[in-house]
Amino acid sequence: METLIRPRRLRQNPAIREMIRESSLKASQLIFPLFICEGKNKLIRHKQVPSLMTVSVDKLKNIVTEAYAVGVRSVVLFGVVDKKDSEGSKALDKKGPVVRAIQEIRSVCPEMQVATDIALDPYTSHGHDGLYEGGEVINDETVQVLCEMATLHAKAGAQIVSPSDMMDGRVAAIRQALDQEGFLKTVILSYTAKYASALYGPFRDTLNVSLQGDKKSYQMDPANRREALRELSLDLNEGADMVMVKPALWYLDVIADFKASSDVPVAAYFVSGEAALIEVGAKAGLFEKERALMESMLAIRRAGADLILSYHAVEVAKILQKSN
Ligand code: PBG
Repeated sequence: METLIRPRRLRQNPAIREMIRESSLKASQLIFPLFICEGKNKLIRHKQVPSLMTVSVDKLKNIVTEAYAVGVRSVVLFGVVDKKDSEGSKALDKKGPVVRAIQEIRSVCPEMQVATDIALDPYTSHGHDGLYEGGEVINDETVQVLCEMATLHAKAGAQIVSPSDMMDGRVAAIRQALDQEGFLKTVILSYTAKYASALYGPFRDTLNVSLQGDKKSYQMDPANRREALRELSLDLNEGADMVMVKPALWYLDVIADFKASSDVPVAAYFVSGEAALIEVGAKAGLFEKERALMESMLAIRRAGADLILSYHAVEVAKILQKSN
């Protein structure tokens, strides 16, 4: 007698579904991005994505200790400055907001792992991630500045530096610069496959970026998948401790490839535009925010990400607490 195969047997009640669930998420796998501005007593939320916050250093204590209390173990910092110039010189300011934020977080919440974004775009008047001459971003000169920036952050106490610029050779150069200064323990989380995506809008609003042209000569073409594997092998050879794919949900194939082709932790950045899609869609009544958010996180984990950078990190961590 022919028997019907019945996959529904394993879906018949919550307990059995939980038993066979393949993917999960913990708060410790989330990294919370924060924008640090100059001045005092400032906490500005992005209009559509309220969890995307710009804060002054004096406001950090509560935010970071709350994040830690709900299980988040790492933040990643971006600087927001009033005066930009063509060299992005404030990136190297020893008293700039990111340096002071690192020191503050290390003192008020010493267990929190502090990561910093390494790129010049928050600081340049043209909005590019590096030095811009004759209509192009010049690679090797930019890498030198990024090495200085990474060393400055490591000196201030950052445990993780995260180059997001997509210059060639920057991971090796940053590793060498850190090692030379004695920062043997500083972790490099490289933005390995960062795509020239439409999804960075709210981020660029937050930093008041007025970009000249586009970033297609250094960020990757969204059409390319195998090229990401080339970036991956370069970054691994150059000594990246962790690798990242960015954005996340439209690049799940790339995340899966990274997981299969590397032996380091794989991170994915659920970027500002992705966060905005959830917020705006939920607000329009198209779906439930919490479900859409958790489904997004789980999909990124299912594809193979070990870590997720997300503006919703604290919200997600609270949802996880509630469901335990
Ligand atoms: C640039 C950088 C960007 C983001 C992180 N680092 C934007 C860009 O490349 O223009 C975007 C993050 C987001 O949209 O949430 N160094």
